[in-house]
Formats: sequence, C-alpha cells, structure tokens
Amino acid sequence: MPERWRGRERFVIIETGFGLGLNFLATWQSWRDDPQRCSQLHFISFEKHPFGTADLAVLHAHWPELSDLAEKLRKQWPMLTPGTHRLNFDDEQVVLTLFFGDAAELLSQQVFAARADALFLDGFSPAKNPELWSPRLFKSLRQLAAPGATLATWTVAGAVREGLTAAGFEVAKASGYGSKRQMLRGEYREPPAPGA
Ligand SMILES: C[S@@+](CC[C@H](N)C(=O)[O-])C[C@H]1O[C@@H](n2cnc3c(N)ncnc32)[C@H](O)[C@@H]1O
Repeated sequence: MPERWRGRERFVIIETGFGLGLNFLATWQSWRDDPQRCSQLHFISFEKHPFGTADLAVLHAHWPELSDLAEKLRKQWPMLTPGTHRLNFDDEQVVLTLFFGDAAELLSQQVFAARADALFLDGFSPAKNPELWSPRLFKSLRQLAAPGATLATWTVAGAVREGLTAAGFEVAKASGYGSKRQMLRGEYREPPAPGA
C-alpha cells in the first residue's frame, strides 16, 4: 500500500470480510509507519457475523505486534447491530466504516458511494462461500473502483479469475505469502471512451 498512497490526499480501501480486522490493523500500522503517508485513509469493510469485543480480545492476543492498535479498535468497537458504523482514529485521519450485514447484498444495493483505490477480497473460500465471489459482487466492486484501482486476494481459484476478468479487472497470479504459494493481484483499467 505505501507506494500506492504516497502523494495522495486521500486513499480508499474496500474489503469484503472484516473478520478480526487484521488487514485493517496491518494497513493502519503501515500507514502510521510511513512518513510519506496520505493525509486520510478510509477503510470500508463488510462483516456478516461480527465478533463481540471479548472474543476479539482473545483472538487479537495471537498477534502481539498489533496489540496497541487492536486495543484502540476494540475500544471503539460498536454494538453488533446491522447497519453502518463509523470509527475514527488518529485525529480522524484514519476512518473505518464498518457495514454489519451481507456484503453481496449491501454492495448490490449500492448503499454508499465511494471511489476505491484498492480492494481486498477476503471472504471464506470460494468453494464454501460462493456468494462473496459471485459475478454480481465483482460487478458491484468494479462500479466502486477508481480507474487504476488495484485488488488483491489470497485465492487464485479459476472461477474467481474468470469472474474478475469478466467484470473488467486485469488479474494475474503473484507469489503468495505464509502458507499460500500464490495470490491474485488485479487492476481496474477504465475502458477507452468510444472513438478514442
Ligand atoms: C477470512 S475471514 C476475513 C479476515 C479479515 N479480513 C481479517 O483481516 O481479519 C472472512 C470473513 O468474511 C465474513 N463473511 C463471510 N461471508 C460474508 C458475507 N456474505 N458478507 C460479509 N461478510 C462475510 C466471515 O464472517 C469472516 O469474518
């Protein structure tokens, strides 16, 4: 992310599947560590089955390197009511918008307007949870993607690659990390205007 947000006033990330918020916490940490960070970081994420704070605390303990930020997140963690929850950190320079509900449904209803600079696709596996990897969801994400928006996901499943390509993303496999040999990266390139 740092190379992407440098020199930018504002950088917007959309994620499917907030889970424990590890992606958010790691992104926030790199933003804090980067002297050339953008002025404002917006992180928008969806979670259908949010954890309560007590469970989050137990699970976050497995990542002591994120404990400081994880505690700040838990201090502001909202009630588990469906809908939108906005959390501000670091003097409102980091804004987390959480949608508690079904990402596929909410994205297709276009419940918010945004121009995403980066997309993190992080639902459970496409085989077990196809709703988060459907052509409808990819199309909704493309409608929210700024030209040049990048995407990343841990899965390289053929159906995901085909679905993203059909929605207008250029995707390619890349080296993975941890136990994942490969991951998928992508970019949204706006189609040229007719006659251009
Ligand atoms: C692999 S975990 C995400 C990990 C997370 N990104 C992190 O950094 O901690 C996948 C998450 O997707 C959520 N999920 C699954 N289906 C969903 C749906 N239809 N809408 C929203 N969230 C969903 C699950 O409840 C789970 O928390």
